[in-house]
Amino acid sequence: MKKIRALVTGGCGFIGSHLVRQLLISNNFEFVLNLDLLTYSGHPENCADISDSRYCFKHASINDKQNLLELIKKEKVDVIFHLAAESHVDRSINSIEPFVRTNIGGTQTILEVIKETGCRIDLVHISTDEVYGSLGKNDAPFTEKSPISPRNPYAATKAASDHLVQSFVNTYGISAIITRCSNNYGPRQFPEKLIPLMILNGIKGDPLPIYGDGLQIRDWIHVEDHVNGIIAAYDGLRNGNLSPGDVINFGGENEKTNLEIVNEIIKQIGNSTSEIKHIKDRLGHDRRYAINNKKAKDVLNWSPKIIWVNGIEETINWYKNNEKWINSIISGEYRNWISKQYKDDF
Ligand code: NAD
Ligand code: TYD
Repeated sequence: MKKIRALVTGGCGFIGSHLVRQLLISNNFEFVLNLDLLTYSGHPENCADISDSRYCFKHASINDKQNLLELIKKEKVDVIFHLAAESHVDRSINSIEPFVRTNIGGTQTILEVIKETGCRIDLVHISTDEVYGSLGKNDAPFTEKSPISPRNPYAATKAASDHLVQSFVNTYGISAIITRCSNNYGPRQFPEKLIPLMILNGIKGDPLPIYGDGLQIRDWIHVEDHVNGIIAAYDGLRNGNLSPGDVINFGGENEKTNLEIVNEIIKQIGNSTSEIKHIKDRLGHDRRYAINNKKAKDVLNWSPKIIWVNGIEETINWYKNNEKWINSIISGEYRNWISKQYKDDF
């Protein structure tokens, strides 16, 4: 069977760095090219230990069309796993411009490049459950048929990129699928997101900022379960179990309120002196996300494997044991964000 040549966009980010490693574990991939702009959330350290000769890193933007076109042709890429994005909701509320540029404009560039090569290049477009909007407490979890109804600027730009992908499948016949996953956690997540922020603050003894009442619900999935789902989805596209234009959802089957998450983290850290502080709510804060995994189970034989209590323990230990990584991540840019975002609260 022909070996696969893959391009991962955003491979120095949280999920991308796990996907790159998982692709290299598989013998099906003869080449894995990681293209990343190394924005504030993308760090070379995230892939620094990868020594596989099939792996290659390219520092570039998905918005640079000519470069992308030449690279894809030169490297004879068979599939693009598209993860590069601006990914933090609070930053999108603060300033939408980079989100439109990267999430919409960058996806547009990738689609145009695939079209212009005139070759079959598969696209696995990594999206999010946030495009479905917000659920009430007793609503059924999102399925692939749930209406697209984004409610914050990040989610709106991801929904727009999903629509662009679908339009290129329909209009030009490109071979693309879309995955929509719930909230990820695990090693190497940038500590602006809930779980790593609370772990770092908990270790340092700093306050734990909870937006509003803290009863918002997310469906937490370990990042390794997510990347296994992404690879299973690509296998599904290759073997015909999925068709171009198909959407597939992945969730952790692990709904928790933010307060439950933070209390669990503090319990597991053990000797933390940190205390929860309720602060002003996020604007337009979505109340609940939850995913129905039936399609992924039926079509891809995928299900989440990592149990929350084990996954969070391993994640906390990873942050405790990787001080060098933390020090390299907590740059001036990170400090600026934290002091700006929480300035009225601490
Ligand atoms: P992240 O912020 O950790 O990583 C994003 C990466 O993209 C970084 O390495 C960054 O340098 C890179 N990047 C940004 N702009 C770029 C550009 N113009 N060109 C090339 N690279 C660029 O994000 P993440 O949490 O790893 O999320 C990855 C993808 O998964 C995103 O598309 C996100 O929407 C999606 N997703 C994330 C979650 C989650 O819980 N984190 C859940 C579902 C879906
Ligand atoms: P986050 O990790 O930013 O993911 P998303 O907004 O994409 O779901 O936030 C997860 C939840 O935690 C969300 O309801 C917002 C909340 N949250 C806080 O209460 N305090 C914080 O400091 C952060 C960053 C998030």
